[in-house]
Amino acid sequence: MKQIVLAMCLAGVCIGAFPAFGRTNSRSGDTVAHDWWKHAVFYEIYPRSFADSNGDGIGDLTGITAKLDYLKNLGVDAIWITPCFPSPQVDFGYDVSDYKNIDPLYGTLADFDKLVREAKKRNIRIILDFVVNHTSDQHPWFLDSRSSRTSAHRDWYIWRDGKGPGEPPNNWLSTFGGSAWKFDPATHQYYYHFFYPQQPDLNWRNPAVEKAMFEVTRWWYRRGVSGFRLDAVDTLFEDPRLTDNPILRPGSNAFGDPVEENKYNTKQPEVHEVLRGLRKIANEYNAVLIGETWTADVAELDKYYGEGSNELQLPMDFLFTMVNKLSPAQFRKQIAEVNAASGWPTFVISNHDIARSYDRYGDGAHNDEIAKLMAALYLTLRGTPIMYYGEEIGMETTPPARREDVKDPIGRRGWPKEKGRDGERTPMQWNESENAGFTTGTPWLPVPESYKTHNVAAESKDPSSILEFYKKLLRLRHTNSALLNGKYVAINENDANVLSYLRMNGSGGVVVALNMSSTAQNVALELKAQGFASVKSLLDSGPVTIKKSSVSLPPFGVLIGELTK
Ligand code: NOJ
Ligand code: CA
Repeated sequence: MKQIVLAMCLAGVCIGAFPAFGRTNSRSGDTVAHDWWKHAVFYEIYPRSFADSNGDGIGDLTGITAKLDYLKNLGVDAIWITPCFPSPQVDFGYDVSDYKNIDPLYGTLADFDKLVREAKKRNIRIILDFVVNHTSDQHPWFLDSRSSRTSAHRDWYIWRDGKGPGEPPNNWLSTFGGSAWKFDPATHQYYYHFFYPQQPDLNWRNPAVEKAMFEVTRWWYRRGVSGFRLDAVDTLFEDPRLTDNPILRPGSNAFGDPVEENKYNTKQPEVHEVLRGLRKIANEYNAVLIGETWTADVAELDKYYGEGSNELQLPMDFLFTMVNKLSPAQFRKQIAEVNAASGWPTFVISNHDIARSYDRYGDGAHNDEIAKLMAALYLTLRGTPIMYYGEEIGMETTPPARREDVKDPIGRRGWPKEKGRDGERTPMQWNESENAGFTTGTPWLPVPESYKTHNVAAESKDPSSILEFYKKLLRLRHTNSALLNGKYVAINENDANVLSYLRMNGSGGVVVALNMSSTAQNVALELKAQGFASVKSLLDSGPVTIKKSSVSLPPFGVLIGELTK
């Protein structure tokens, strides 16, 4: 999927300290007044795969509600649920046919309200996924739009005449394969779809579309939602003149298409007006807007914060996920760049479109150690982390072995080069029982064999597990003021094996040292220049030896230590 998405831008102590979800912008107890989303740890749930309460093999909202205590105990402050609205499920919910309801697969609005109530009791906020660029082709708006050239909703989508018989309006390609234009014989025009043909793009130049979509956000805020993850924001607008995109490589991608630069159908300037509008409404509800922002560099990412921070609070830094190897130099560069941006960084290491971090970084021999190391990295940086379900237990990517088993349509179309995204969407591994405790029925995707060793129940009993490491780390993150508020200071910048940095807060701070190599490393930490003499371990992942400012780390070892004078 990585190639596809690239083409698209191609203690609980603190948890309890959140004021009830009021409209205040600051938290009591902090030395610095902070917006809640700067301190919160977010956790992405793919609802189909999290917990099934009724045995149909598909996860649901009641399943999520039943796991809230688990999430609370883990140290999660907000859950982002990928689309759970009525949908034909062509793109597993990213094809919405009703923005103001819950798909019966996942439950009812009453189940949703209960989830909000139960989450609130535990100070966990709910973030929904707002599919802003397109609807399902079964949405009543589109059904009306396609019915005639003069229908009330005709201009809610992007309809154009072809260039000639059988020729689409221009050369734009769908990121999911083939032309981005589909001919509709009913009215003899083409409609535009950046994703599947069943996901027609909305025409955001039409004020009626904007009004209706803005209203959707208010409707959910009033129901108790604390924000949205905005899907595919890069794709909201297209060049109205339909200028052809430059072809980068005439050769073929996984779908047999040329590789195109999405110059005229992504990242058009008008998107910022829409984001400013959505932000104004979000501000009324003290809500957060998270962006699915695939950018070529940090300068491009920076634009999504808006001038004077009036657009997205949390545009995701996917450039971080593109550092696809344990390279201190590359991580250093990426972290420094995003820290220099005008807004607050947002870190992810995997999600439902990206292969899981466990095997992306794992070397096959030290995968558990490396999972802890990656956790220590993105959960101690200055910024907001968004975890992906299962990461905390070391779930691995398990792509289907045969084309006929693939559920994600892009995997069937692109096989074998593109196997789709099933591999990173497998059911959550709760325990050692059948189907890993995810369902009593037949799971919609097979449960990976790794569930026998990597599951919540087993790892909860093992103090050296990945899960227990995550819990300790999150507790530290919520209670240590340097990790909450401190600035990021790079040290030992020439070390090719160990990534080290400080989080400095006033006169104190924390050092993080991450051995990204498979051999033990001795590091003389450069602390003197910052006014410190030594370190005291707060959390480590194995036998670490500290002698004043010299630290010995085992292969892939982690040290998070308090700086002492
Ligand atoms: C991005 C979502 O994360 C992905 O899963 C989906 O297929 C596309 N947007 C289209 O909505
Ligand atoms: Ca179910």
